[in-house]
Amino acid sequence: MAVDSNKLIIFDTTLRDGEQSPGASMTKDEKIRIARQLERLKVDIIEAGFAAASQGDFESIHAISGIIKNATVCSLSRANDKDIARAAEALAPAERKRIHTFLATSPLHMEKKLRMTPDQVFEQAKMAVRYARKFTDDIEFSPEDGSRSDIDFLCRVIEAVIKEGATTINFADTVGYAVPGLYGNMLKTLRERIPNSDKAVWSVHCHNDLGMAVANSLAGVMIGGARQVECTINGLGERAGNTALEEIVMAVRTRKDHFKLEIGVDTTQIVPTSKLVSQITGFAVQPNKSVVGANAFAHASGIHQDGVLKARDTYEIMRAEDVGWAANKIVLGKLSGRNAFKQRLEELGIKLESAADTDAAFIRFKELADRKSDIFDEDIMALVSDEQHSHE
Ligand code: KIV
Ligand code: ZN
Repeated sequence: MAVDSNKLIIFDTTLRDGEQSPGASMTKDEKIRIARQLERLKVDIIEAGFAAASQGDFESIHAISGIIKNATVCSLSRANDKDIARAAEALAPAERKRIHTFLATSPLHMEKKLRMTPDQVFEQAKMAVRYARKFTDDIEFSPEDGSRSDIDFLCRVIEAVIKEGATTINFADTVGYAVPGLYGNMLKTLRERIPNSDKAVWSVHCHNDLGMAVANSLAGVMIGGARQVECTINGLGERAGNTALEEIVMAVRTRKDHFKLEIGVDTTQIVPTSKLVSQITGFAVQPNKSVVGANAFAHASGIHQDGVLKARDTYEIMRAEDVGWAANKIVLGKLSGRNAFKQRLEELGIKLESAADTDAAFIRFKELADRKSDIFDEDIMALVSDEQHSHE
């Protein structure tokens, strides 16, 4: 895909890299429920698992391949014939299927983990892609630990696998070592130096060890020209997790003026998907998590509440409803002002007789809020009952 394409492909790997989160393993039925929800979310590609990793993973990918109609289904596979054949078998029922094969290219991984020479890695990568092409023409190749690899060697391997038929090249920051400028520029250099680079879609795959997975992914898109982002719901994933889908999608949508890219995702399905993944894996979403955290659209300070009640744009850069929340929240507490208090009275259908009654109720509310951090609607109703009854 030429880099001037303005479509950003969303590749969801919640069911594969997300599941590599210690403690997040899922049953086949759970994976199917999530895959259906990812289809509702309208992601482009669902990486459903790693077929050769276990019988359970194989069966999950096979089942998902038979169910999902509106997304490409993908299986991960090491760069060997046995794994690739297993991936192809698992994906057989899929209308659109992708084999994603990977091989480490960094000096550290080649020498210490694979115990292979660079020439052996080069040959194996080519053979793997050539073999995978027998089953589908949608082949992704990932140079694992790509961001710590030698650029000359990367150029050599990537040029060769594209010649063998790889259609997506996924520049992996396997250990979350990258920083945005360097990562984006490395990708740009690769694309500039590899003569057949425009024959493939370039992808980013970042881990969050230094908290920069989303920033690195966006640098890969903006500086490097990547047009696929690999990501997971709630940023679930190995160690500190992967690039969070909801953050990428909402960054690109909210700052369309800057990114100028199209995404096919139905953003109103983001929160339902986040809740489903959290419920199935048992991984709670932190309250202050961007987009999907319980506080992401909650306003607690009086100044902010007053601003939002007058014009939401004052303190909201996106709408809660657009990502699947019912509404934003004005949280009443000790920082709240008179305006937010009056608004809540209205929402509760409470009409006080006079401004003096409202003032008295507001003073009691502030006293209560100093003692109690969570003020519920029941507290407000109890609080105003004196004023209401005094006029009966
Ligand atoms: O982090 C990584 O390198 C991976 C590859 C398999 C793409 O998950
Ligand atoms: Zn990964």
